[in-house]
Amino acid sequence: MSEEAPPGKSAPVQIGLLGRGNVGAAFEELLAERGEAVAAATGRRVELAGVLTRSEGDFEQILAGSELIVELMGGTEPTREYVLAALRAGRPVVTANKQLLAQHGAELFAAAREAGVQLRFEAAVAAVIPIVRTIQESFGVAEVARVFGIVNGTTNFILTEMAARGAPYDEVLAEAQRLGYAEADPSEDVNGADAAAKMAILARLAFHTPVGLDQVSFEGIEAIAPDDLAYAKELGLSLKLLGIAERRSGGISVRVFPCFLYGGHPLAPIQGSFNAVTVQGPAFGEVTMSGPGAGGMQTASAVLGDVVSIIAGEAPVHVTRAELPIVADVPSAFYLHLEVADQPGVLARIATVLGDHDVSVKSVVQRGSGDEARLVMVTHECLESRFAAAVGALAEIPELRAAPRYIHVIEGAE
Ligand SMILES: NC(=O)c1ccc[n+]([C@@H]2O[C@H](COP(=O)([O-])OP(=O)(O)OC[C@H]3O[C@@H](n4cnc5c(N)ncnc54)[C@H](OP(=O)(O)O)[C@@H]3O)[C@@H](O)[C@H]2O)c1
Repeated sequence: MSEEAPPGKSAPVQIGLLGRGNVGAAFEELLAERGEAVAAATGRRVELAGVLTRSEGDFEQILAGSELIVELMGGTEPTREYVLAALRAGRPVVTANKQLLAQHGAELFAAAREAGVQLRFEAAVAAVIPIVRTIQESFGVAEVARVFGIVNGTTNFILTEMAARGAPYDEVLAEAQRLGYAEADPSEDVNGADAAAKMAILARLAFHTPVGLDQVSFEGIEAIAPDDLAYAKELGLSLKLLGIAERRSGGISVRVFPCFLYGGHPLAPIQGSFNAVTVQGPAFGEVTMSGPGAGGMQTASAVLGDVVSIIAGEAPVHVTRAELPIVADVPSAFYLHLEVADQPGVLARIATVLGDHDVSVKSVVQRGSGDEARLVMVTHECLESRFAAAVGALAEIPELRAAPRYIHVIEGAE
């Protein structure tokens, strides 16, 4: 097939580009490289109408001269104002900005609906992995029971390296920064906020209900110690920062937490900076996609895919459902690490506390003796509130030498 645009077609689509950093510069490059292919696919050529950075361009002028806006500035202000202005002016918008959508999605999607224009955001979750398109379009009217995944490459890289080399968190984080996997300020990655924003977006799509960042509970990986990973190895577990959005009796639960996975879990083999997302539903079973979850060119490639969809006139499926409440207390299995004085009766006392809270133990590893004794156990599933109460009671046992440490455990894809 010829890559020439059909003759006699209308003038080029003018694209206003907000931001020319890692992703914006790659998008500009890709637009030049793949321009002929875009024209062949859509029947329209594309041109940059203008670029806005901190030192160049004027937003109002760019908006006036554009048919479509690509937002790659990041941040929530003034980005929110620019995106709202673009939508209200009838311009479709493509963005890669997860925090903008997770914090202001309700306002932005409403503005897009009112103006009758598209707001596309494939690159905002897991960069080039086409998870937004898959949930929104392929499974648009299917029932989705659960979406879960590794949606932050920086933390997966850190956890992979900690497990492989037994190196401490700070050392591996510094290496990730040297290699360019982690930002100079990596706090949103390592504290789970970045993954939480992505899970808010996926939950909104999967369950057709508004989900904001403030409804996602999240924990990061800052407190993970190398010996947690060493014990986990003995128990046949691998550690991931997992995001889970799932239906739970009458509502939904959306959470991000570090979590041990058993070897057979589909996400257990995902190593380094890769991302992977699994979608489960009664009609289609289970689909897992993995790939690079970041990178300027990879992200720009997903942005260009959205631009092409808009120019080609493809619209995502819209299903409106009632708001679903957030279910806060859900069952989970746990890894529990206790440092205890090795004295007679301690184990029995711990067992009694766990039993009193209906927490039953699946496996135990004991190491050392005297004040160095450590008990590492994996529990069966129980409500998180019940486990938290048990941990609170364990912390009161006088033979305990340090605060109990615990991490979620997931058996396998159900
Ligand atoms: N990098 C990735 O791998 C990746 C992956 C997925 C999603 N994303 C998302 O993509 C977006 C862009 O990320 P990036 O890594 O390309 O960011 P970046 O390298 O920091 O680039 C940001 C660009 O926006 C411009 N900018 C920022 N604030 C501005 C303001 N107030 N007014 C005008 N221009 C402003 C900057 O201008 P100056 O050039 O003048 O500083 C720069 O050109 C973010 O939402 C990010 O979350 C990135």
